[in-house]
Amino acid sequence: MVTEWKHSTVVAGVPWKNPVGTASGTFNLEACGRFFDVSEMGAISTKGVSPVPWDGNPTPRTVESPSGMVNAVGLQNPGVDHYLVDELPKLKALGALVVTNVAGHSDDDYAQVVEKLADSSADMLEINVSCPNVSHGGLSVGSDPLVLGHLIERLRPMTDKPMVVKLTPNVTDIVPIARAAVDAGADALSLINTLVGMSIDIETGKPFLGNVTGGVSGPAIKPIAVAMVWKTRQALPDIPIIGIGGIMSAEDALEHLYAGANAVEVGAAALVDPLAPLRIAHDLDILLDSRPQLAEKLRKGQTWR
Ligand SMILES: Cc1cc2nc3c(=O)[nH]c(=O)nc-3n(C[C@H](O)[C@H](O)[C@H](O)COP(=O)(O)O)c2cc1C
Repeated sequence: MVTEWKHSTVVAGVPWKNPVGTASGTFNLEACGRFFDVSEMGAISTKGVSPVPWDGNPTPRTVESPSGMVNAVGLQNPGVDHYLVDELPKLKALGALVVTNVAGHSDDDYAQVVEKLADSSADMLEINVSCPNVSHGGLSVGSDPLVLGHLIERLRPMTDKPMVVKLTPNVTDIVPIARAAVDAGADALSLINTLVGMSIDIETGKPFLGNVTGGVSGPAIKPIAVAMVWKTRQALPDIPIIGIGGIMSAEDALEHLYAGANAVEVGAAALVDPLAPLRIAHDLDILLDSRPQLAEKLRKGQTWR
């Protein structure tokens, strides 16, 4: 049954049928696609796509932590050429609005992927400059405003597709980083990626994860994410923001929207319950009925703050 969504949003000029998307790396078409109709989601953000296949990090790659988890998958993926003939056409054939998450170990890596995606059927690109689990690229790009600005200035003219830049919380102040991305041409920001974390097995005294450190996600990071959405919105009143971090319920999503996000993405919740993103979208559609001012702003591409 196709849902008649009552409350839509707009992100960087792209209409989303509802304000809830899946967060990169936590949605898998083979797994989640069996549980729900992907065309029902506001958007599907894919796993990070790199220029060539990446094997990812040594196992174990995930461990539970209080109110969350730590992962060090390391952006394992089959590469952009495979993505273009497999996952992307499958998602589009199912009617999904696709946000392709772009990964790289260097500026040239990012440029190669964006070049190949430039004329693809992806609806938006999300440049991941915030992965804590890769040795080059990731945080080293996303935590330095100058380096990030140069990268986005190079990528922006390569495609007409709306470009979202995904930011890391692993910085002293997210605002100069956000501003650098926007000044360089980002059409929207998504925040936050995971926080660097570590977990130790007290039986062996060794780190749980093969990569030693990983990224913390889940309910534990929600207050941090909401604060970063808020701070970014205060500093940059006009840039579209996708709020991510610790969203397990529609009430959590509302916190992000009231902090100033135009839309949200649901991550770790989908690893606990593959239906969570769609459930949250449905519950939010009901909660927005009693919040007509917020709903009206989102529908017009505006935000609460
Ligand atoms: C297993 C796993 C894999 C992830 N892979 C990616 C990725 O490929 N690209 C990316 O930008 N973020 C990735 N993330 C980060 C999430 O998209 C999200 O930003 C983060 O988990 C915070 O949201 P959450 O608390 O709802 O999980 C990954 C997160 C997890 C848990």
